Amino acid sequence: MSVLLKVDGLSIAFGGLKAVDNLSFEMNEREIYGIIGPNGAGKTTAFNCITQFYRPDAGTIMFNSKKQGMMNLVGLKPHQIIGHGLVRTFQNVELVASLSVIDNLLVGAHIAFETGIVSQILRLPKAKNEERALRGRAEEVLEMLELSHIKNQLAVMQPYGHQKKLELGRTLMMSPKLIILDEPAAGLNDVETAGLMDIIKKVTKTLNCGILLIEHDMNFVSKMCDRICAINFGKLLAIGTPDEIKSHPDVQEAYLGKTEEV
Ligand SMILES: Nc1ncnc2c1ncn2[C@@H]1O[C@H](COP(=O)(O)OP(=O)(O)OP(=O)(O)O)[C@@H](O)[C@H]1O
Ligand SMILES: [Mg+2]
Repeated sequence: MSVLLKVDGLSIAFGGLKAVDNLSFEMNEREIYGIIGPNGAGKTTAFNCITQFYRPDAGTIMFNSKKQGMMNLVGLKPHQIIGHGLVRTFQNVELVASLSVIDNLLVGAHIAFETGIVSQILRLPKAKNEERALRGRAEEVLEMLELSHIKNQLAVMQPYGHQKKLELGRTLMMSPKLIILDEPAAGLNDVETAGLMDIIKKVTKTLNCGILLIEHDMNFVSKMCDRICAINFGKLLAIGTPDEIKSHPDVQEAYLGKTEEV
């Protein structure tokens, strides 16, 4: 099994607050890996550091890039990270309200376009071919997400479960090696959550990619993840299988403020 992501000694402070404090963990290729912790534990901040939305104060983030193998991501720009095969979603759904479902996938994929803006405007043959290829890819992604039947409808009119799937779809347009999901099941009902779980698992298998996710719902994390890293106050509490994490006394205390089954 080879390593896909290795975070080592990651730290960032805002003023005096150590939001992420010497955090280290690693995940393997094709693994579904979870990060849990109470509100304000530093989960989103850790993701922002990994994806270089924030520049960490210390630490290395080694990633097995699809372009150049193991490399440190620290110092790259967020859009450069995507080219190496690491893509993310945000904690809140961010779709373009005025566009259809399929067009939301296509705008997300503009980074994958190699043709310059001029040839796109002039609609030169290369740009046309690329657009056709992207459209084909978008159709495949919609198929995978079971959203083909609503592809021409406005994204914003869709139920929240569809919108969350569509966000995942935008990452799939980039041919990722690692997808980072911030609370993919937040706001979903039980049926939508179960549907999303199935789709995430299917996607991982089909695309051979890893998933790193934050989720509050312990049930979701336990069912989804091969391994979990629990953090609190920016610091690592424990790493283990879902069962190990659920029965870990420090995790129980951090989650509930008391030591009983979570
Ligand atoms: N840009 C920022 N400036 C200042 N403080 C920040 C910033 N981003 C996060 N923080 C602080 O860092 C800490 C960790 O926040 P973070 O959003 O990473 O937590 P989280 O684990 O994702 O929480 P939640 O479960 O509520 O999403 C919090 O105390 C937060 O207020
Ligand atoms: Mg968060």
